[in-house]
Amino acid sequence: MRTALTIAGSDSSGGAGIQADIKTMMANGVFAMSAITALTAQNTTGVSAIMNASPGFLREEIDEVFTDIFPDAVKIGMVSEASLIRVIAERLRHYRPACIVVDPVMVATSGAKLISDDAIAVLKEELFPIATILTPNIPETEVLSERTVQTPDDMIAAAQAIGQKYHCAVLCKGGHNLNDANDLLYRDGSCRWFNGKRIQNPNTHGTGCTLSSAIASNLAKGFDLDTSVERAKEYISGALGAMLDLGHGSGPMNHAFDQDGKFMREADGTHCGPDTDSSANAGNPSAADRSSADCPVPGKGGLS
Ligand SMILES: Nc1ncnc2c1ncn2[C@@H]1O[C@H](COP(=O)(O)OP(=O)(O)OP(=O)(O)O)[C@@H](O)[C@H]1O
Ligand SMILES: [Mg+2]
Repeated sequence: MRTALTIAGSDSSGGAGIQADIKTMMANGVFAMSAITALTAQNTTGVSAIMNASPGFLREEIDEVFTDIFPDAVKIGMVSEASLIRVIAERLRHYRPACIVVDPVMVATSGAKLISDDAIAVLKEELFPIATILTPNIPETEVLSERTVQTPDDMIAAAQAIGQKYHCAVLCKGGHNLNDANDLLYRDGSCRWFNGKRIQNPNTHGTGCTLSSAIASNLAKGFDLDTSVERAKEYISGALGAMLDLGHGSGPMNHAFDQDGKFMREADGTHCGPDTDSSANAGNPSAADRSSADCPVPGKGGLS
């Protein structure tokens, strides 16, 4: 089985960050591993607290993964401190994994800057030059290219400028466009559009994490860059199109939209619970019957 490593922050609400990355990698058929850069306390309405890992601990996480199960691809998400970015760049230069997807998480959908200026400088100096592909959204593309991006031509010019500066491929994501969801890939001196129909779903928490992890998963499985982006785009469109609606804010997507196998199925009818305890229900045949039907035990038609 092919393997992928995500180096990113944890999202307690499960829709973005490490949790979204692992769900995406699993749904895309690779074995997922993680090195956590920060713990966040958040839900679909906002982030209330962040606790960064120490540089030494992050280094240990990365070393433990690489010296045992060497990943076929690495995805890097939110890293907000310069010292942590330096550790990641140094360890990746040491291990030299074949594919590195960098999601340069810098500007939130709200427009708020998520990392400090010195961390952005270290990202540019140390991480971008070793990336296979960068996946900035439009506000991040503007920061990185130092240009305003309003039209498809602006996306082309900006992606080109970034790719030429850092010698890597660039996917400028169009999720912030109003009328479409067209992403632009610049690689090896040329551009290709990956067109997407805009899905009217307010629950877009974690789209960036999900797309970059899907690209990393497909690269890990041996697909070329164009095919990996194409498959990742199809996956994110399916996850958004499944129209999951959880939480009070911008909710998560259904990463398992494509899995309807027997292990995904929920129980029919009643569930196991306190009222299924057979001693408590002695003399109540219907509850006792339900207990043995819902909680089968070895030798009683359950596990074999
Ligand atoms: N409403 C939508 N309908 C269809 N595709 C979408 C929609 N919103 C985002 N996408 C797609 O999701 C992917 C992620 O793009 P987006 O621009 O949302 O990234 P992002 O801003 O980095 O996300 P995040 O807010 O999670 O950091 C892109 O492929 C984009 O085209
Ligand atoms: Mg993003």
